[in-house]
Amino acid sequence: MEFNLKRYEHMPYRRAGRSGVVLPPVSLGMWHNFGTNADHENCRAMMRTAFDLGILHFDLANNYGPAPGAAETRVGRILKEDFAAHRDELIISTKAGFTMWPGPYGDWGSKKYLVASLDQSLKRLGLDYVDIFYSHRPDPNTPIEETIGALDLIVKQGKALYAGVSNYLGEDFVRVAELVARRGWTPLTLHQPRYSMFDRRIETQLLEHTERYGLGVIVYSPLEQGILTNKYIDAGGIPEDSRAADPEGFLTEDQVTQDRLERVRGLNEIARARGQSMAQLAIAWALRDPRVTSALIGASRPEQIVDCVRALDNSAFSDEELAAIDELAPA
Ligand SMILES: NC(=O)c1ccc[n+]([C@@H]2O[C@H](COP(=O)([O-])OP(=O)(O)OC[C@H]3O[C@@H](n4cnc5c(N)ncnc54)[C@H](OP(=O)(O)O)[C@@H]3O)[C@@H](O)[C@H]2O)c1
Repeated sequence: MEFNLKRYEHMPYRRAGRSGVVLPPVSLGMWHNFGTNADHENCRAMMRTAFDLGILHFDLANNYGPAPGAAETRVGRILKEDFAAHRDELIISTKAGFTMWPGPYGDWGSKKYLVASLDQSLKRLGLDYVDIFYSHRPDPNTPIEETIGALDLIVKQGKALYAGVSNYLGEDFVRVAELVARRGWTPLTLHQPRYSMFDRRIETQLLEHTERYGLGVIVYSPLEQGILTNKYIDAGGIPEDSRAADPEGFLTEDQVTQDRLERVRGLNEIARARGQSMAQLAIAWALRDPRVTSALIGASRPEQIVDCVRALDNSAFSDEELAAIDELAPA
């Protein structure tokens, strides 16, 4: 099956900070729905749909599953089945930082964990290198010289082309960026923080720093794991086919509160007036600051990816719209 030959014509790619990396404003992550029990043909269809739309970036981590590692194994299989002729067009990322295997070397940020974990990820993915490798979270007990030095080593070894950090906010990030500059290490290319209308911390704790040090920013969970879509408000509760209903999902029913749904209903009125779905409004909003390179979404079916990419058809906001969003989702 051929891919859409016009896939690069309509995607307004954005440059990641001061680097050579260029990403689609909407990228696809495999945190959920690519694990052991996922429907393989649906996973293939999601990746193929994304690529056909110009989404050339797929984001993974060592622990994505369930079981941990399963998403990388599945994506490795799909890369072989469908993308073998397209490896050089793709940006594949993975991370290490959360629990992966038993014992003190299967978690956090030691050099041993990061190096061993990436070796395992490459085997599961069937790749010689990943494009981006992240430290998934700061480790309060390992010196940052060791964690960030391991990223420099990994890039110099050619096992990753670029390095990044995820979930380092404020001073945690500034310390890292200063260290890299002082040591003359491989510059960090990307930061992957959480950002949505319901979690606006990066506006005050990160974006000024990533801009100063030249990193791009790819924001995860811009749809609040599905809450910032029409899914829960249309159902008036928790639909069966939702992440909140999935016992293995990271979204729990008690996070889908009446207060949040009330706000989403208000936000959905703004979306409707703009001719957008709620998901499209949430994505366009997350991308309104040009310092944000990409909004990293998840999906459970291909149609959701198509819906999300249409956010790019209407990405400008009036001051009145932004003020109305601030009322419902204050910073
Ligand atoms: N660095 C980190 O620490 C970290 C943490 C979390 C995530 N991430 C990355 O970010 C990626 C995205 O995270 P996320 O899955 O939480 O993102 P998200 O985009 O906020 O939520 C994705 C969920 O929203 C629903 N959805 C998506 N498009 C929709 C649409 N058009 N209409 C209705 N519902 C829609 C689906 O829920 P249903 O499944 O209910 O259909 C989907 O599974 C992950 O895969 C991972 O790569 C990174």
